[in-house]
Amino acid sequence: MKRFSLLAVALAGPCQAALRFGCSSVSVQRLDPLVEPGSVPSAHVHQIVGGNAFNATMDPKIDIGETATCTTCVFSEDFSNYWTAVLYFRARNGTYKRVPQYANAITQGARAGMTVYYTQESFTSNGNQKITAFKPGFRMTVGSPTTDTKEQAVKHKGLRYTCLQTILTRGSETPDFPAEPCPAGIMAIHHFPACWDGKNLDSPDHQSHMFSTDQGGFRTAGPCPASHPVRMPQVAYETMWNTTQFNDKSLWPEDGSQPFVWSTGEDRGYSTHADYLFGWKGDALQRAMDSSCMFQACGGPKGVLKIQSAEEMNKCAVKSTVTEPIDGCEFLFSSFFFLQLGPKLGA
Ligand SMILES: *[C@@H]1O[C@H](CO)[C@@H](O)[C@H](O)[C@H]1NC(C)=O
Ligand SMILES: *[C@@H]1O[C@H](CO)[C@@H](O)[C@H](O)[C@H]1NC(C)=O
Ligand SMILES: *[C@@H]1O[C@H](CO)[C@@H](O)[C@H](O)[C@H]1NC(C)=O
Repeated sequence: MKRFSLLAVALAGPCQAALRFGCSSVSVQRLDPLVEPGSVPSAHVHQIVGGNAFNATMDPKIDIGETATCTTCVFSEDFSNYWTAVLYFRARNGTYKRVPQYANAITQGARAGMTVYYTQESFTSNGNQKITAFKPGFRMTVGSPTTDTKEQAVKHKGLRYTCLQTILTRGSETPDFPAEPCPAGIMAIHHFPACWDGKNLDSPDHQSHMFSTDQGGFRTAGPCPASHPVRMPQVAYETMWNTTQFNDKSLWPEDGSQPFVWSTGEDRGYSTHADYLFGWKGDALQRAMDSSCMFQACGGPKGVLKIQSAEEMNKCAVKSTVTEPIDGCEFLFSSFFFLQLGPKLGA
């Protein structure tokens, strides 16, 4: 046993860094600078965390790591933006209500938002290879708002849901929304691809410059293919939706189906998707990936990254450019959200 663990350490090489941190909400609004740059509003509502350079356009030539002045993430040099669709509850009478988000459980005092991961080849190892940080202007999406079959959804191994028995429940992942009420809510999980073509900061579909070796659930990834040879950090999001106020089954549809709907208007969970726009300041992310710190140990006086308090994180916000109620009502949903779904669907 002992010999085995020594061997494992030797093979893993010196750098096995991994980051896991909370980011408070920076904005909830109908903008999508990646898929629909300049559209005010975009097709559907997003919940966004990270730096305050988030706006409708976000030109790839602008390094948001330099232009943002604050961030809602624990690591204060991380001005990236991270976003997903928003979850709504559909009542029997056809009205909609936005589902609140739990804050990250590790960061006491954070405000809604999500947990962000940058791992390497697996949860605990870099697979003995160099991990190259993203470059300014880099962006990508995972999943698609138009996915509408289980067959397609199953193929996105990194896109899953966990029915939370407690906020610490992990595993038991499904490609669709849980069929029964989840006592502590629903966690939406998004793992991004981590192999880069080495050339393009983006691609027309925002995905083909990247290749996914993800096996789901932070399992060890396979090698990057020759077409996408550069291994980047494995980015993942966990968003915890607090569904508890909607768990009374007498509020659920009479046919027993589940009542939650993404802001895309889709109610099976297959349209789950997420967007990433790199914005770490200078070489901060590379510095972390080249170190051998794990999780919280990467920050603070002894770590390689600067951190900030929850109070400071929560002070950072982006003013909404789209002025409309986002908490949900019948009129809003039918006239703005759903009728706009079409060829311009945003990721
Ligand atoms: C977004 O921010 C950039 C950089 O600050 C700015 O040049 C651009 O005009 C802004 N776009 C919108 C739509 O506000
Ligand atoms: C619709 O149902 C929800 C949940 O039961 C309730 O809170 C809301 O007041 C109802 N709205 C209307 C317009 O009946
Ligand atoms: C989750 O929602 C319930 C019902 O609204 C609320 O009482 C509870 O405080 C929320 N939990 C957290 C951790 O926000």
